[in-house]
Amino acid sequence: MTFDATSFCQKATADIKKKIGDKKTVIGLSGGVDSSVAAILTHKAIGDNLISVFVDTGFMRKNEAEEIRQIFEGKYNLNLRIIDAEEEFMKKLKGKSDPEEKRKIIGHHFITVFQREAEKIGAQALVQGTIAPDWIETGGGIKSHHNVTLPSGMVLTVVEPLRDLYKDEVREVARHLKLPPEISERMPFPGPGLAVRVVGEITQERVNVVREADYIVKEEIKKAGIQSWQAFAALLPGRVTGVKGDSRDYGYIIAIRIVESLDAMTANTKQIDPQVWKTLRKIADRIPREIPQVTRVLYDLTNKPPATIEFE
Ligand code: XMP
Repeated sequence: MTFDATSFCQKATADIKKKIGDKKTVIGLSGGVDSSVAAILTHKAIGDNLISVFVDTGFMRKNEAEEIRQIFEGKYNLNLRIIDAEEEFMKKLKGKSDPEEKRKIIGHHFITVFQREAEKIGAQALVQGTIAPDWIETGGGIKSHHNVTLPSGMVLTVVEPLRDLYKDEVREVARHLKLPPEISERMPFPGPGLAVRVVGEITQERVNVVREADYIVKEEIKKAGIQSWQAFAALLPGRVTGVKGDSRDYGYIIAIRIVESLDAMTANTKQIDPQVWKTLRKIADRIPREIPQVTRVLYDLTNKPPATIEFE
């Protein structure tokens, strides 16, 4: 059976209305297609009782908070509030290197920030943009996606209107709702953000390095018009030898990941055709030149499975 965005929207808004009634409600609007669609549907269902909260964890992509502000502030009636929580997230994460521990700290702290905002707002419900692969993979014990890892004692009613959808269906709904392509076609980005793309220990410097590298990857991929499910940079642990100018250097290792996928449950590495090769070359030249701490750039050849798309 093919997916019907019109009837999905009708049913979803009716369900949200029934579950939430006239409760004041918060949603974490990350600007990703999932949370954006969940926010628009919720607004359709309950109107101005919805307050959207964008938490800037400090692990967002370059210029992301500003971009989200420009797209959503004062539009779509989402009552957007932007919370700068960079310092508190970094404090909690500093020195942590275990992937699951990092994810859990971020997930729990996210909820803490929400509860704080929810209390200020007087909210009694929380809407989340969880989609099917999030809970399937969490339930399967592969990793804890932050948007389903809730601490016990949660006081908010949690509503997940997109629980049964896959990404391509969410995009279809986004187009149906006339969200701009920057949102409807937005590349997936993990809830814990760049924190899970700094493999191992988190430091502010390492987050900054991966953010700059990721920006270069995105810029070159966009310029070349290369289509993919995701294209990004990750920072691997350790240092390797390089040579800069006349002297030996020990620098960071950046891994580039470009994958094709339909639903993120499986993924194939983007094949290195001449256009991809040319782009990878540019990226590999630019990153060590523009980010002095980096001496080496690698391309990840591994499919999912056996790898995951993210590195942690
Ligand atoms: P993996 O790494 O499990 O990722 O192959 C599958 C897809 O999910 C994204 N991802 C996340 N999304 N919260 C999210 O909302 C998370 O914690 C999270 N971890 C991974 C990932 O970017 C990929 O598209």
